[in-house]
Amino acid sequence: MEIKTFGVIGAGQMGNGIAQVAAMSGLRVIMNDIKDEFVQRGIATIKKNLDRSVDKGKMSAAERDAVLARIKPSVAIDDLAAADMVVEAATENQPIKFRIFQDLDRICPAHAILATNTSSIPIGRIASQTKRPEQVIGMHFMNPVPVMKLVEIIRGLATSDETFKLTWALAEKFGKTPAESNDYPGFIANRVLMPMINEAVYCLYHGVGTREDIDTVMKLGMNHPMGPLALADLIGLDTCLAIMETLYAGFSDSKYRPCPLLRKYVEAGWLGCKTGRGFYQY
Ligand code: CAA
Repeated sequence: MEIKTFGVIGAGQMGNGIAQVAAMSGLRVIMNDIKDEFVQRGIATIKKNLDRSVDKGKMSAAERDAVLARIKPSVAIDDLAAADMVVEAATENQPIKFRIFQDLDRICPAHAILATNTSSIPIGRIASQTKRPEQVIGMHFMNPVPVMKLVEIIRGLATSDETFKLTWALAEKFGKTPAESNDYPGFIANRVLMPMINEAVYCLYHGVGTREDIDTVMKLGMNHPMGPLALADLIGLDTCLAIMETLYAGFSDSKYRPCPLLRKYVEAGWLGCKTGRGFYQY
């Protein structure tokens, strides 16, 4: 099977990044979201990224226009009937993802692979919402998608070898390096990353250090490109909390309990860069 038309559900920070790298690799892309304003915002972000590449001389204006022309904006999920593969990058909320997979299973052609960019919900649980669990897989991109090299690929219990190989090859076509993880909560990336971020929030909560000192320690002491609190703001504090909740529920282990301060920020609507305020102000 050759993947020519690629669908992305969700035009937010992950979805528009995935749509960008897919279109840059030469695929026709359908970028779908529930509201036209979300899709248009996603297109504007992609255009801004591509314009920056043109300004830096990394891409010609004609290439930029060709990439943009390959992305079809969509607000009707039925448009995905034309897709050979779809990656779902909607909000990290299980009922929403379940509904999307039920719809995609009904709408997409029988050969289509249905992937999810979930950062922590078990793939097998999502696959069980479809009648094609052998064609369901995790394709977990990192933020910011155009920059980060990794794609974590997660097989559900029923995922076929063919689905796995096609997804692996596609990640490479996108210029990424894939790594395989088994299907346990948080997979590898967030099983390791999120407890570190959560512990940094505990350091702030317990007054061990200021946000600046915590981030400076990890940046300069561990050579991380950004501190854990700034990274949490980039990822979104709601997403961080959702992942901690999934780890906590999935392992029934108190070591994954979310820090109360993280929950407090989320309840206040301080979600990080996307709302202008998280641990820092933007
Ligand atoms: N979109 C597209 N390109 C971007 C970008 C964005 N949002 N942010 C930065 N870039 C590009 C810049 O244009 C620049 O490109 P060139 O090299 O072509 O000039 C390059 O990235 C470097 O950017 P800057 O010089 O502005 O900034 P920087 O060197 O400080 O890098 C960073 C910024 C890439 C975000 C870096 O700080 C970093 O790697 N941070 C860690 C990110 C990380 O850990 N991501 C994983 C999050 S976890 C996750 O995503 C999974 C999950 O499930 C939660």
